[in-house]
Amino acid sequence: MSPIVTILNGPNLNLLGKREPEIYGRETLAEVEADCRRVGAELGLSIEFHQSNREYEIIDFIHGARERAAGIVINPAAFTHTSVAILDALHTFAGPIIEVHISNVHKREAFRHHSFVSAVASGVIIGCGTQGYAFALQRLAKLIGA
Ligand code: DQA
Repeated sequence: MSPIVTILNGPNLNLLGKREPEIYGRETLAEVEADCRRVGAELGLSIEFHQSNREYEIIDFIHGARERAAGIVINPAAFTHTSVAILDALHTFAGPIIEVHISNVHKREAFRHHSFVSAVASGVIIGCGTQGYAFALQRLAKLIGA
């Protein structure tokens, strides 16, 4: 059976394509999900894909991933810069974690320069647009040995 990778998306990413397209591009989250499923299939990975605007739901998805997933890709969106609770949840996950940001957060406001999640990430992909998700899956496939 293919190893499972859980892809998690934080608040406001449900509006991808409509929200600040000059920063985040015109691709919708449904299109990102379809790309991830296609790339995942090519890499021999089984993809679980979630988005939530609620911090506790993201924590619950991480707890769910503990039972099943070989790796996590996470774009925590604004929770990146605020959430010790998501960091703590990720610390309970044994497999590799790749953090993704669509925009180059280092070119933006200073409050976006710090990530709580990076402390637990095996790798961080920043500013590569939505293509960053495919890069993250390629890296995870290598780390997992899929
Ligand atoms: C983001 C960057 C965050 O600062 C922001 O709050 C987001 C999206 C990105 O993908 O570039 O919602 O994580």
